[in-house]
Amino acid sequence: MEQMHLQDFYITEFQDDLVNWFLENQRELPWRMSKDPYRVWVSEIMLQQTRVDTVIPYYNAFMREFPTLEALAEAEEDRILKAWEGLGYYSRVRNLQTAVREVVEQYEGRVPDTREEISSLKGVGPYTAGAVLSIAYGKPEPAVDGNVMRVLSRVLLVEEDIAKASTRKIFENILYDLVSKDDPSSFNQGLMELGALICTPTSPGCLLCPVREHCRAYDHGKQNDLPIKSKKKKQTAKQMAAVVLRNERGEVLIEKRPETGLLARLWQFPNVEVTDGRSVEEHFQASYDIEVVLDEPIQKVEHVFSHLIWNITVYEAQVSGQPDGGQATRKWIPVKDIEKYAFPVSHQKIIQKSLL
Ligand code: ADE
Repeated sequence: MEQMHLQDFYITEFQDDLVNWFLENQRELPWRMSKDPYRVWVSEIMLQQTRVDTVIPYYNAFMREFPTLEALAEAEEDRILKAWEGLGYYSRVRNLQTAVREVVEQYEGRVPDTREEISSLKGVGPYTAGAVLSIAYGKPEPAVDGNVMRVLSRVLLVEEDIAKASTRKIFENILYDLVSKDDPSSFNQGLMELGALICTPTSPGCLLCPVREHCRAYDHGKQNDLPIKSKKKKQTAKQMAAVVLRNERGEVLIEKRPETGLLARLWQFPNVEVTDGRSVEEHFQASYDIEVVLDEPIQKVEHVFSHLIWNITVYEAQVSGQPDGGQATRKWIPVKDIEKYAFPVSHQKIIQKSLL
């Protein structure tokens, strides 16, 4: 079925043009200095949903702190969350640690080199599996992310909706035939690099494109109409109130978020969803059993997630005694210790304004 997409397509010439361009024009990026499967793996996890420019400093710091798979396997969870602080999608790093522990225990510390085995690791989906197998091990495996779908939908004039989960398989099947068997690493990275530098989402740079001769979208003047991507539904907004609560010793109350779900196990300031006619004070009383007297809010923070928006109104308050300090997930800490804990970006903004 997918074979039809490659009819009358000059596969070898396309591979050569793409790979040669990549070898000449690739950016120097820190994860390209080594084929160490662990280093490649970490980079591919970080690069999911996050831009290259944002990833670079995090990647360098992460590799300094956790230079080997064993180092990451042995690290405390709070340290790995701290190293990821600000990158978002924190389940990525929690899953990565679960997975490297599995590699230590089940594979003697060697990242598996077959799709079946590597795909069994936590957080390793079809894209990550293909990226690590091709880049670290030179295996001719597809690695399909949004960029690759955009490039290939143009080159091959594929008019499937790339927002649909089932579409990725179409591209994977095409790529089993299309990927270079001589240099799968440069081929796959070449597709990614082309998507990043030339075949961009808007105003693609076709005049500079090394595979323009092969591009059916360009041939039909459709490069700006592809890929076809249906709109995802927009986020719902959640009204929240957070409070920076100080005791008589000048300590602040923080709490660990729940074990699962959004931003699992990161730290945060006490907060409530404000849903109905009750006052913010009443909401706090109900959720925390703490009596607070709130003045005017000192800050409003908006944070946009992929599926959700938080509108947080921030208050400061003083309490006497140490209500709830004894609970395992809540603790009073000196302000100077705040940087030891990993907070979601929205709560980092509260730290910036109220505590620094
Ligand atoms: N995006 C995803 N993987 C990448 C890589 N290895 N290099 C550059 N950008 C990427």
